[in-house]
Amino acid sequence: MVDYRVDNQFTVLEINNPPVNALSSDVTIGLYDGILKALQDDSVQAVIIIGKGKVFCAGADITAFSKSIKGLGITDVGHAIESSSKPVISAVYGVALGGGLEIALFCHYRISDKKAKFGFPEVQLGLLPGAEGTIRLPRLTGLPVAMEIITSGRQLSAQEAVKYGIIDKIVENDLLQEAKTFATSIIGKPLDSLRLRTKKVKNADLVDKYYDDALKEVKRKSKGLIAPVSCLKTIRGSAKLPYDTAAQLERSLFTELITSSQSAALRYSFFAERSAAKWRLPNGARSANTKPGSVVSAAVIGAGTMGSGIAVCLLRAGIPVILVEQNEKLLKAAQTNIDQIFRGSVQLGKMTLEKRQECLRMLQGTAQLEKVKDVDIVIEAIFENLKLKQEVFAKLDKICKPTAFLCSNTSTLDIDKIASATSRPDKVAGTHFFAPAHIMRLLENVYGSKTSPETVATVMELGRKIGKISVLSKTCDGFIANRMNKIGVEAVYLVEEGASPYNIDQIMEDFGMSMGLDVGWRIRQEQAKALGVNLTAETKYLNAERYCSLPDKLYELGRNGIKTGRGWYRYDPANPRKPIPDLDVLDIIQTHCQNLGIQRREITAQEVIERCLYATINEGFKILEENVAEKPSDIDVIWQYGFAFPRYRGGPMFYASQVGLRKVFERICYYHATFPYSKHWLPSDLLRKLASSTDEIPINQWMNNWSSKL
Ligand code: 3HC
Repeated sequence: MVDYRVDNQFTVLEINNPPVNALSSDVTIGLYDGILKALQDDSVQAVIIIGKGKVFCAGADITAFSKSIKGLGITDVGHAIESSSKPVISAVYGVALGGGLEIALFCHYRISDKKAKFGFPEVQLGLLPGAEGTIRLPRLTGLPVAMEIITSGRQLSAQEAVKYGIIDKIVENDLLQEAKTFATSIIGKPLDSLRLRTKKVKNADLVDKYYDDALKEVKRKSKGLIAPVSCLKTIRGSAKLPYDTAAQLERSLFTELITSSQSAALRYSFFAERSAAKWRLPNGARSANTKPGSVVSAAVIGAGTMGSGIAVCLLRAGIPVILVEQNEKLLKAAQTNIDQIFRGSVQLGKMTLEKRQECLRMLQGTAQLEKVKDVDIVIEAIFENLKLKQEVFAKLDKICKPTAFLCSNTSTLDIDKIASATSRPDKVAGTHFFAPAHIMRLLENVYGSKTSPETVATVMELGRKIGKISVLSKTCDGFIANRMNKIGVEAVYLVEEGASPYNIDQIMEDFGMSMGLDVGWRIRQEQAKALGVNLTAETKYLNAERYCSLPDKLYELGRNGIKTGRGWYRYDPANPRKPIPDLDVLDIIQTHCQNLGIQRREITAQEVIERCLYATINEGFKILEENVAEKPSDIDVIWQYGFAFPRYRGGPMFYASQVGLRKVFERICYYHATFPYSKHWLPSDLLRKLASSTDEIPINQWMNNWSSKL
């Protein structure tokens, strides 16, 4: 785990724990023993700590957190390093993050190559740097910079790290060789002033002001999160308390955080995101043993908002795009729209002018479908209509080379039906982007019964290449994302039964969800339209399902949301992002209920949460039962990135595991008995099975308890 070697007058301690040199207990023991051994070896004048492989060290081993929360041992190693009578130099390339940076801060000197990155990402895991990082960083950078770095969790470039005094030097050539040269230059120099514990915190008397300012910022940016506030408290401690007392405070707050449900959810989310890329198909094919096809050119069919956004994603990743629209006028509008997106990126400093020009050069607009004959992949983004899509796919099948992958951006339609219009159903898949496609990170890739593993691997790899978080879904009506979302449906029923739409939104917002009734309403409108049934204000049931006509009423009154200035809310054109509650809507609801003889009642916040989320969770379990999603964490990733579910709650499935499956199941059964005309309350078999276990089954073992009917 740590390779020890003596090289002339140096001991080189090389951390060797692939893939990211995390500080497992073997690594900390290796470092500790290595320092002691070097101190005992009279031939050794200095110690160099370096990482083997691509990085220096990514910090504490996150996988070990749930197993044991006892001392990580990083501080023990750190104290041994700091008190060493021989200089210790950390040589960083790749990253020094979290505990990795803390180890570096215990060293007397730090050097790095020019591409190295530094940071304390603990806050993103609901933690704080728990090995004296919050006490040592302010001693180097000053309080305001330390507060910003630690509460944001962002990565700093080597250049920034030098500027703030975090590292001593950036080197150009071979890192180990440079470290030895550097070490030679400092051998024999006094070490006292280099031990950070002896340094004073600059402007310590101003700490309360810095703290108040930073707290305001943190509360604005990270609403609902506890870790950033704890970070600030320990940084304040670093200025107000003697070193060891501040370290004690840091330790106690770290222990509090690591046992918090927020940190459990954030750590789960870290791994959930990575495991989404590791897919497995019902036929046994897996990401690990499937090679993606090559994609060096693409076509996008349909240059509306979605098509243009998709083209932007591809172009940014260096993939030339042929954009197809029906006529020159629409094409021109799309090209202008795409250029506006690039201009916006340039203005925000996210793209260089050269890159914008390069992207525009790679974009070719055409009204002739035949032009796509040589591309490797086609993404269709036309109107959501099966017949139309089948027509386009049949044409594409004839035009495109046999190896080309044909994908649809459909958000609900059956991939098998689309694929059936072609002679290559194995090469057809869904690539469901979320609007706005150039901003939203989620890509829901969908496979049909004939989609080949190679095609799945190709769309998953394409997602990675264009910077998306890709999640795989089996085809079904609405796939994982849209099928599962029952929030809008239940919210409307709650309004009909007695809740105010504004209360519902507020309750969901307090829960951490920034989407509210408004989004649900739009989804409901689409569903009503798709049913193609003549609805009236009196319609209470549809297809033996409960139906609420309130959204239709609002729609008929021209209350169509932001674009018409009115919906469930009023919208001030000068500030459309701030919806204003509308008394007229409350009157409309009142009249609707009177006409239908509905007795309105008091509805609690608890009921709002349960009705909106448990209905959604129940559908999530059905999605697992049917193998539409392979694992619960895939569903949670979709909710975090597609519907802004708060990461610190993990996602609906993780939330259910935290509430307890028995409780969730009982409430679902209760609502099923109360609302027999809502199919989504019919309890899932998988949930029933898991809830009947005497012990709560951990989320990562749910699927082991389900005998799939593949
Ligand atoms: N512990 C355990 N495993 C880790 C890890 C860690 N700290 N960091 C990354 N990994 C694992 C990932 O899960 C992944 O495993 P997999 O291959 O089985 O999926 C593998 O290492 C590679 O990671 P990525 O896929 O993320 O690879 P990238 O090259 O894209 O990114 C990285 C590398 C920048 C290091 C990124 O993984 C990262 O940001 N890691 C988290 C770093 C972090 O949060 N450190 C703080 C830990 S808490 C701490 O140190 C507490 C201390 O203050 C006491």
